[in-house]
Amino acid sequence: MDFDVLRLSIDRELVRLLPALAAEQANPQQETVLIDAMHYALLTGGKRIRPLLCLLTAEALTAATVAEMPSIRTAAQVAEAALVAGCAIEAMHAYSLVHDDLPAMDDDDLRRGEPTCHIRFGEAVAILAGDALQTLAFEILAGGRLSALGVSPGAQLRMLRQLASASGAGGMVGGQALDLAAEGRKLDEASLSTLHAMKTGALIESAVVFGLCVHNIEDTGLELDLRRFGKLIGLAFQVQDDILDVASDTASLGKTAGKDEQQDKSTYVKLMGLEGARAHLDALFAEADEILRRRALHQTPLSAFTRQLATRIR
Ligand code: IPE
Ligand code: IPE
Ligand code: MG
Ligand code: MG
Ligand code: MG
Repeated sequence: MDFDVLRLSIDRELVRLLPALAAEQANPQQETVLIDAMHYALLTGGKRIRPLLCLLTAEALTAATVAEMPSIRTAAQVAEAALVAGCAIEAMHAYSLVHDDLPAMDDDDLRRGEPTCHIRFGEAVAILAGDALQTLAFEILAGGRLSALGVSPGAQLRMLRQLASASGAGGMVGGQALDLAAEGRKLDEASLSTLHAMKTGALIESAVVFGLCVHNIEDTGLELDLRRFGKLIGLAFQVQDDILDVASDTASLGKTAGKDEQQDKSTYVKLMGLEGARAHLDALFAEADEILRRRALHQTPLSAFTRQLATRIR
């Protein structure tokens, strides 16, 4: 199954969200280099995994008629709401990459096959572009677009709360702090899985949860299962990132291979070796697949996409 058509619609939406907001502010003093840097960080390359997960989760729930759609709301409106919500996560993710690459953090000069944001625009602008992408994520979620598409105020608030907690000290940023503190150390599996779940898993889990939220569904059992599914593939995604850093090359990855060993990062490869990490990865995806099966969501594009993720090479 080819998801490139969806990727194109995600990119179109991202383009639309970015200058639209800049224009909305209609400030002639607006520093265009800041907008250029945001545009660069958001739209140059990238696999769009998170918005895709949001879209495909929402679609799977529609198809499974888990969601009883009130007649005033069409499947197309739900899909568009998932697109918008997924783009909010992509903005948060793009910000996390810009800051992750800064000299004070991982000090990388290549990202998505191009010079990193701070190499291209300078450190100060890159820091600010990251900051502005972060707030853009919340502007998108809190804006009128989602309510116009029939997302309830309660669901909108749940998404805002979810993104805030997944991104902050208990989520992505907290995980990044643990990652830096773990350089040169050897963590046990429990600590490393916590680190990975926070720095990478939390945003991926949010993407799946958003697929449920845009339906205005509050089903504790289903949410628990989808959260568990999101957590598993989120952790697996970072385990794979660790593996690819060792097993792939710079040209395929679009970022410098071998950086983790160079910086003595705490990774699953360091903990378990390449084969051990691969086996662990398979086990995580198998457990995730089992959840979809149990929920009768295993013959959906979401399931096909998850299988593609399991064997990704970049
Ligand atoms: C890279 O994420 C950083 C991690 C959280 C592992 P992606 O592999 O999703 O990066 P892009 O968005 O496709 O460039
Ligand atoms: C990044 O982890 C996680 C983020 C929150 C951005 P890495 O530092 O391993 O990501 P890459 O390898 O630079 O993409
Ligand atoms: Mg890092
Ligand atoms: Mg990095
Ligand atoms: Mg990495």
